[in-house]
Amino acid sequence: MQEKQSIHGTWASRWIFILAATGSAVGLGNIWKFPYITGENGGGAFVLMYLVCILLVGVPIMIAEVFIGRRARKSPINAITDLANEAKKSTLWSLLGLMGMLAGVMIFSFYSVVAGWVLHYIALMGSGEFVGASSEKAGSIFNGLLADPKTMLLWHTVFAIMTVVVVIGGVNKGLERATRILMPSLFVLLVILLGYSATTEGFAEGFDFMFHFDVSELSWDAVLIALGHSFFTLSLGMGTIMAYGAYMPKKASIGSTVIAIATLDTVVALIAGLAIFPIIFANNMDPGAGPGLMFVSLPVAFGQMPGGQVFGFMFFVLVGVAAWTSAISLLEPTVAYLIEKFKWSRVKASIVLGVIVWAIGISCLLAFNEWSEFKLFGKNMFDLLDYTTANIMLPLGGILTALFAGWVVSKKVSIEEIGISENIHKIWLFTVRFVAPIAVSIVFVLNLK
Ligand code: TRP
Repeated sequence: MQEKQSIHGTWASRWIFILAATGSAVGLGNIWKFPYITGENGGGAFVLMYLVCILLVGVPIMIAEVFIGRRARKSPINAITDLANEAKKSTLWSLLGLMGMLAGVMIFSFYSVVAGWVLHYIALMGSGEFVGASSEKAGSIFNGLLADPKTMLLWHTVFAIMTVVVVIGGVNKGLERATRILMPSLFVLLVILLGYSATTEGFAEGFDFMFHFDVSELSWDAVLIALGHSFFTLSLGMGTIMAYGAYMPKKASIGSTVIAIATLDTVVALIAGLAIFPIIFANNMDPGAGPGLMFVSLPVAFGQMPGGQVFGFMFFVLVGVAAWTSAISLLEPTVAYLIEKFKWSRVKASIVLGVIVWAIGISCLLAFNEWSEFKLFGKNMFDLLDYTTANIMLPLGGILTALFAGWVVSKKVSIEEIGISENIHKIWLFTVRFVAPIAVSIVFVLNLK
């Protein structure tokens, strides 16, 4: 049988696939969101739940997404349709891809606003604004930004344009180059930051906060947030990894590749948390401060450490890059679909989608100022998009993917594609058929009350 090729291109090697998928996974979710939701949900017990979810739900579903994409070599909706046809089952499963595209648009809209804050902070750091700054000063600078829709709009726009430009370039150019050098540099800077925070008097307390496990601190709502975040941080549940899998070379083994990606992603999140919390405690700040956590705590640390202006500048540049490589992956599945479905050029598809997500993003940045009164279900636009995507749409997309891969696709096909031993395949199959769907359903149901 002739091997299928994607019309959108193929990664040069397995290694490039790992870089691209890690570039997608490692982003604001690891450095901005993970620490702040850990802080809001009491620390250790939440971290443990998150780790359990990554292992039991995230990894098996990531394997499923990669192999579905690679088998069909098409964007998620068409990939699911092809595999359903191959198994002679209903193609209604492809609606899953539709929900994924919607989730991607919704996530991008608030993601780009936060990435815009990062860009603004690159400039602030570089100008020495934070040298010697107290936590009060850092707090008021951040609140000043939230109250200033014009500045936020400027940076949100810059970030959206940067993302669209790379998506226009396509999967093989730009993206690969950026990831190869910049991801390792981000890692090095995080380790330097960790080294600094280990010297502060808050380190023991910060460490304890993250790893001291006490079940009584855990609510079902927190478990849902941990579960939702395990999808968010691994870029699962909306077709990103399926789309990237479609560009994966045939020879690569899926099991070990996925383990590598999940491990890198988790390590970055844990280091980010371990770097941030000691600084919080050493300066008597509140770990539950919410979305501003990183933007207030880290500038204070950089302001105190020797060479902090340079390190701080580099750090925010690299966080910006991490956000960039993630944002690209939020648009790619939909752009690939628009090209396949309407025969649009890549340029047209990227620009049309870019304008839509940019416009919705504006409603998120106004949620902090002009439109702060506007609430649905007690949440402003920004929180609403964040909450419904991460805690409802991604887990739902995830279970449906698991059920599809486990029950609809034949065993023969999944064994052939994944390339793992028969025993490990049995464990995987059991997880996608039962463990992941049941676990996610239980968490959903317990949250309904
Ligand atoms: N995983 C990225 C982060 O942690 C965000 C992201 C990129 C994402 N693509 C995704 C989240 C697809 C969910 C689905 O920052």
